[in-house]
Amino acid sequence: MKRREFLINSAITVAGLSLLMGTGEAKAVTGKKGIKKMKKSITLNYENIMPFINGNDIDNIIPKVKEARKILVEKSGAGKDYLGWLDLPVTMSQDLIKDIEETGKRIRETSDVLISIGIGGSYLGARAAISAVNGTYANELALLNSNGLAICYSGCDMSTSHLRSLLDLIKNKRVFVNVISKSGTTTEPAIALRVIYEALKEAVGEAEANKRIIATTDSKKGALKTLADSKGWKRFIVPDDVGGRYSVMTPVGLLPISASGMDIKAMLEGAKIAREDVKEEDIKKNIACLYAGLRNILYKKGKTVEIMSTFEDGLHYFGEWWKQLYGESEGKENRGIYPDSLDFSTDLHSMGQYIQEGERMLMETFIDVENGKFDIKVPHAETNDDGLGYLEGKTLRYVNRTALKGTAEAHKDGGVPNMTFTVPEIDEYYLGYLFYMFEYACGVSGYMGKVNPFNQPGVEAYKKNMFRLLGKPGSK
Ligand code: PA5
Repeated sequence: MKRREFLINSAITVAGLSLLMGTGEAKAVTGKKGIKKMKKSITLNYENIMPFINGNDIDNIIPKVKEARKILVEKSGAGKDYLGWLDLPVTMSQDLIKDIEETGKRIRETSDVLISIGIGGSYLGARAAISAVNGTYANELALLNSNGLAICYSGCDMSTSHLRSLLDLIKNKRVFVNVISKSGTTTEPAIALRVIYEALKEAVGEAEANKRIIATTDSKKGALKTLADSKGWKRFIVPDDVGGRYSVMTPVGLLPISASGMDIKAMLEGAKIAREDVKEEDIKKNIACLYAGLRNILYKKGKTVEIMSTFEDGLHYFGEWWKQLYGESEGKENRGIYPDSLDFSTDLHSMGQYIQEGERMLMETFIDVENGKFDIKVPHAETNDDGLGYLEGKTLRYVNRTALKGTAEAHKDGGVPNMTFTVPEIDEYYLGYLFYMFEYACGVSGYMGKVNPFNQPGVEAYKKNMFRLLGKPGSK
């Protein structure tokens, strides 16, 4: 098979037009100002899994992928009441988008710090998008230069030092809070909210504090909804048919993302194009379905752990989001691929040894980023004492991407099958595409594994014990 056959494009059909896409070819999308522009496709290269599978494995898995996808799109499987996310990129009302954008702008213009309070699916999507696009030091820059909004996260743990240092950070700052909980009963964000609300009231008084909190809640139920209504906080709603980890394209993710200054319409546009692409019937040309199929072929061959590896530190939280999506969706009934995520080169000097030579139950998925807004060249030096003369004038992106290539080859040679998604650049559009594509692949993969990908019964076990040990009334 020629190399080219391992590369598939993420897009075939755009806005009703049937286009035959070559590798990395461009497609029309609608930009921020409604202008049609051309965007390259995301590609999936699975050459490095071929030595680990048999010639007919892919053909054999295709009927299983199709069956699982049918269950998903026909909404006939377990968890079918939580499939609203499938259509969000086209069903979200313009009024809601406008409300989110205007509220985001108001937060940005009137605050130094936005605290997003939430756990799991209630914060990871926003954190993934914001850190990918705004960069590692966005908070420091915003606070040091007193322009821009720092975005901090709370309620995702109960660490005293985390909350204490957040309280120290927000002293004398203009603070806005977005508390997010679909159930409205989760302990971690509820405790963080109590503490932060007290601090806010002390700083600006109760009336102003109540104007500076927005709650994102279930439409009808939950303690958070009741509290928000009693205090008069503005509320956004998590749709009934969308679970936490599939909610990044609802106000759960979009409000903090918009407050950070990002273009949420471009994100929805990327998701919309992904929604079109996943309709492709030929599974070998369907990036989401093929990914679901390939990882399941490897799982059946004993590759029970999948690592998402990136060479961009801004994608750290994207890895965290992906890990939660797949872990909570598939890890059930004593089955499921265990998802992990690593940041390279950092983790090549910690986990790299294990990946290269440890137990052989690993598969790996790389995210390769082709381009960015900026680049840095390896500078000229008077002497070549550091031996880097051969890299002078080369861009850091080129060196970094070459490191990815070398790593993928080394891991394949060490017995770790791997595939690579190449993303033209990390912006709102491509993130929207990736969010949707991975969610869809997760739904398909979950049904292939014969579990309900939209519940999380296992999460209750620790809560039950914690409540009993804490003496919560009514707990056993
Ligand atoms: O994906 C999920 O459903 C979970 O990760 C939830 O998002 C998480 O448990 C937080 O739940 P809630 O929003 O109800 O506080």
